[in-house]
Amino acid sequence: MGELSGLKADLAQIVRLALAEQTEDVRLFAARLVRKYRNTEPELAEQVDLFLRAKPHRAGAPLRKAVAPMPPGQALPVDDESRLSLLKVFNDSSDREAPMLSAELEESLGQLIQERKQMARLAALGLTPTRSAIFVGQPGVGKTLTARWLAAQLDVPLYVLDLTAVMSSLLGRSGSNLRAALDFAKRSPCVLLLDEIDAIAKRRSDDSDVGELKRLVTVILQEVDEWPATGLLLAATNHPELIDPALWRRFDLVVEFKVPKSAAIKEAIKRFLGPDSALFGRWIDVLTFAFRGQSFSDIEREIQRFRRAVALGTTPDADLIEEFIKARALSLDRQGRIDMAVLLAKQTRLSQHSISDITGVSRDTIRKYTTCEPTVVPKKRRHEA
Ligand SMILES: Nc1ncnc2c1ncn2[C@@H]1O[C@H](COP(=O)(O)OP(=O)(O)O)[C@@H](O)[C@H]1O
Ligand SMILES: [Mg+2]
Repeated sequence: MGELSGLKADLAQIVRLALAEQTEDVRLFAARLVRKYRNTEPELAEQVDLFLRAKPHRAGAPLRKAVAPMPPGQALPVDDESRLSLLKVFNDSSDREAPMLSAELEESLGQLIQERKQMARLAALGLTPTRSAIFVGQPGVGKTLTARWLAAQLDVPLYVLDLTAVMSSLLGRSGSNLRAALDFAKRSPCVLLLDEIDAIAKRRSDDSDVGELKRLVTVILQEVDEWPATGLLLAATNHPELIDPALWRRFDLVVEFKVPKSAAIKEAIKRFLGPDSALFGRWIDVLTFAFRGQSFSDIEREIQRFRRAVALGTTPDADLIEEFIKARALSLDRQGRIDMAVLLAKQTRLSQHSISDITGVSRDTIRKYTTCEPTVVPKKRRHEA
């Protein structure tokens, strides 16, 4: 209720300012609305923000002009045919939670942010900040998430250009669509992410429109070279091997995202469990083991599933975890399954019988590994043998 009356008051206020033709006040008020509704009404905030950006500030301009049809080239670019916006917009607030990053990543992205915050210092020495970077890594490791976070840290919007969408716009027009999107992004400070940039390369190998695709690559090559330092151009790919080497070389920075290692997996499990951490506490080590090799988004999806099941009371936590580990054990080699069995024997109260059932390791083997410590043969001697 309180929210609704707040909205009504805001609506009345904007009408009042508009009728008084106080254009600049309308802009200021609209900007305040974007901040106010960013968390509670993200779509509304995004829409208002787009209107603001599409109509740059012009001192003293009467409001009538502001609501007149947008001059071509000012609005967010759309594909002529589908009328779909080619750019997705994110306006995240800078207090959003940071993605989980390795120490290396944290350092290089930290520098990227500092370069932007201290542009004057760099400029005094004739230096420009990093203008472009390419994010490499398998799906679900945080490339897109990190782009959002970076833009939020820099206090600029993130525009995401999905190259698959550009490509699916009629060939012959994809070049002009791409240019429209890039030109738009160059006009105001922002981070532009060319997501799944390998889409271009992939199409090139199995398509007859080779000429058109080559032109697209050329457009991007030029843009990477000429990108203004007021903006940051990012690209992301799961298939670095498909990227044209000439394009690859042009990025100022290559950022490699890896699947998490044990410590990061454990941290991710706790983070995604949130308030249910205590409930699943006794399973965390076992889960850390079971999630080896998985991406952050795989871990998140699985943990969400556990939490939903427990919240609904459909399955007890022990059953959920057992079932999950059983499925994961199938993808392990024999030593991996033995390691898992030993861990289960040490960390849980499961019987040897259930552990054997879950991991497929015989009870004899489990006993052998858990009752007496396995004799460790020094590496050197093993080679000699
Ligand atoms: N490093 C990370 N830290 C926290 N959450 C992550 C991370 N990587 C992925 N996730 C989770 O997985 C989801 C998908 O990640 P995303 O950034 O889209 O992956 P990518 O772009 O690398 O395919 C995110 O929205 C987030 O919930
Ligand atoms: Mg992505």
